[in-house]
Order: sequence, then structure tokens, then C-alpha cells
Amino acid sequence: MPCRLRDATPLPNIDDLDSKYGIRGSKIILRIDINSPIKPETGEILDDSRIKAHAVTIKELVERGAGLVILSHQGRPGGDDFVSLEKHAELLSKYSGVDIEFIDDVIGPAAREKISKLKPGEALLLDNTRIISEEIIEAKPERHAKSMFVQRLAPLVDYYVNDAFATIHRSQPSIVGFPLVIPSAIGRVMEKEVKAISRIYSEESRPRVFVLGGGKVHDTLRILEHLHANNAVDRVLATGLVAELFMLAKGIDIGEKNKAFLEYKGLTSLIPRARRLLLRGLPLETPVDFVTTIDDRVEVEVVGRIKGLIRDIGPQTIKMYTEMMKEAQLLVLRGPAGVIEDPRFKEGSKALVSAAIKSNAFVIIGGGHLNLIASELGLADSPNLHISTGGGALLLFLAGEKLPGIEALKASVEKFFPELYKSSPNPNN
Ligand code: 3PG
Repeated sequence: MPCRLRDATPLPNIDDLDSKYGIRGSKIILRIDINSPIKPETGEILDDSRIKAHAVTIKELVERGAGLVILSHQGRPGGDDFVSLEKHAELLSKYSGVDIEFIDDVIGPAAREKISKLKPGEALLLDNTRIISEEIIEAKPERHAKSMFVQRLAPLVDYYVNDAFATIHRSQPSIVGFPLVIPSAIGRVMEKEVKAISRIYSEESRPRVFVLGGGKVHDTLRILEHLHANNAVDRVLATGLVAELFMLAKGIDIGEKNKAFLEYKGLTSLIPRARRLLLRGLPLETPVDFVTTIDDRVEVEVVGRIKGLIRDIGPQTIKMYTEMMKEAQLLVLRGPAGVIEDPRFKEGSKALVSAAIKSNAFVIIGGGHLNLIASELGLADSPNLHISTGGGALLLFLAGEKLPGIEALKASVEKFFPELYKSSPNPNN
């Protein structure tokens, strides 16, 4: 039975693929998202929750008799976390119980030869997709369907399964190119996310409060534009660099050091966009105090100029945001409130995660950092919590935006599963 989007659009799952085309003896490209935080000095994977989540789909497809060619990206070229997937392969093998061979190639002769010789029940993990330049170009699915990436790999396999919910907002060949060329379905992680989020995201879920921090400020600003334009958010509680950007947009003096840091990160050019959002009435709160470093950890209020480099939100902000979260029916948290790698600056994120989960609201946590904190606090299994593998993708999905990965799958359904449109709509429960 296909998984359905909020508008009842069907997305074929593994069962649909199996009953129509047959999985046993086939070869499948499985796109997952095991992009994980990496310790720059050692290359150590700091959070393996995405790897654990995707192990379920891998195990099932192998047990159903497929030969698997697994694809994922890791980081972005130029970043400290842009590394090979060799270590990921070890963890994927451990969690899935499937012996997964790592191939340090993506579309070259070494990878293609291995795929040609792949047998049912075997699995390969190809290297970081983003070492292929086409993979960092955002283009339409029709264009990516003709990319070298797709043209070199698609003829070697039978089907494509997209399990990379966390990357459905990227229009890259490994996400949007294959569904136009071969029968495609969604994996178990994608299915779980779509079902869980579609079920809770109704008008009854208002007021919706979004608590947004973290480092991907460009993405967050774009997401806020979509959320506000689609009237999908009732209040935003900003933390981290997102808060600093909006404080500048409000004309608050955040101190020379902090402004210089935002400039260095190329974020001050976003001030006019942030200001436009505020002028259009985006209900966004900014912190009233911070933890900063001057010589050591100090707490400062936002009165006049802020002294020192901002590292976390302060106790008064925690109190204020905790109160504001109490009014929510749905709370969405993404991105840490401070520099949580240093335990001195983890308090804000811990307090917000704890207050959210202990509130009466349903809580969605997106992205790895806060998810780790929920686990550390022993709250990860709370019944009112959905931990999503997605960050930006989750928020754009919530904003009701058209997502390239989903649009490509829809086009694939028309081509390879047209009968699903005729079957009666079936809510995901
Ligand atoms: C994420 O972590 O949000 C996804 O893996 C997408 O990564 P990206 O923002 O580098 O495209």
C-alpha cells in the first residue's frame, strides 16, 4: 500500500516495488543520507544516528534478495567534514548485519565493474557522491536524468530507492535524476518520516512554535521565508547565529567581535532579507541575554553593547523561551543554541530540549545535534517526540514547499506506477 503525502499523492514503497516489479534477483541503487558530524582532527563520526536509521532499509532490501548499490553524500567540498565514506561503511555493516563493501569510486570503471559483478544479497557503498562535480549542481530533474552520474549507473541496475529524507530539498542527480529513468520507490526511513509528519501536521497543531539555531544560517533564512509565506509558523524563537543575524536586522548592537564573526562567515549580507521578514510581520523573538567569553565564561544581558564573543543563550532567555514554548501545540527544534562542542556552552540547548519534551506539545527535533542531546538527557523515547533525520529538508517539508526529491518521485510514479493514482486515497495510518 503506497505511502501518501498530505495531498494524498501516492509514493510507492518497497512493498509496492516488490509486488509490481519483483525485488529478488534485482539490482537497486539505494540513496541514503548518512551525512554526519565529523571530528576534523581524526575523521571520527560523532553521531551515527542516521547510519543506524538507514540500516533498517538496507537489511530489508538485502533480505528480499536485492544486490544493493548504496549512495550518500558527506559534507560539502571545501568543508572539514567532506570526507570519504570508508568509516561509514563499517558502521553501516555493524548496524545492518550486512557485509557492506566500500568502493572508493562513484561512477568510474572500478565502481561500474563492481556493480556489474554484484550478486543478490550483496551490498556496496560507493564513495561520497559529492566528489562528482555534477552532484553539487542544482538543476531540474530532466537535466540530471541526462547527467553522466545517472547515465553511467542507471543502466547497471533495475530500480532506484530513495531513503534520503534529509536530502529531498536538494535537486542533485543522485536524488532527482534516477526516478525519471528507472522504476523508483521510497525506503523505510523516508516512509516513516512522511507518515509521522503528515499525521501530526494539521491545522489542529497550532500554535506552532519553531526554535531555530545552528550554523546553516542561509538555509534557515530561506526556510523562514517559506514558513512565513505559507503561514506555517506562529512564533519563532531564534538562537545561535540566526538570532545574531536578526538582532542586527532589528538594529541591536551585538558588539564588534560578534559582528566581525558574522562578517567573516559572510552573513551580514543577509541583514536586508532578515529585516524584510520582520517588516512583513514574522513573529520572531531574539535572546535577552547570552553566555559569552571575554577571558572565561560570563553571563551578560542585552543592554547596550554585548561584551565578548557570544557562545550560548543566557538563563533569562532560557526562562523566557521555556514560557513561550508552553503555548505551543507543536514545537519544532532545529540547530543548537550554542557552541555545544564545548560543555561550558551546552546549557542553553539542553534546557530548551528538556523544556520542549516536557511540555504538552508534540515535538519534532530535526538534525543530529539536538537529537544527541535528547538521548543524553534520557528523553529520546518520549511518546510526544518525533526525532527526524532531516534538518533543512524537514523544515521545508513542514512549510509545504515543493521538494525536488518528492517532485521527481511523483514524476516517476506517473511513468512507472500510474495505477497508484487510480487507487483510492489512503491516509497514512
Ligand atoms: C543535511 O544534513 O541537512 C543533509 O545531509 C543535506 O546536506 P547539505 O545541506 O550539505 O545539502
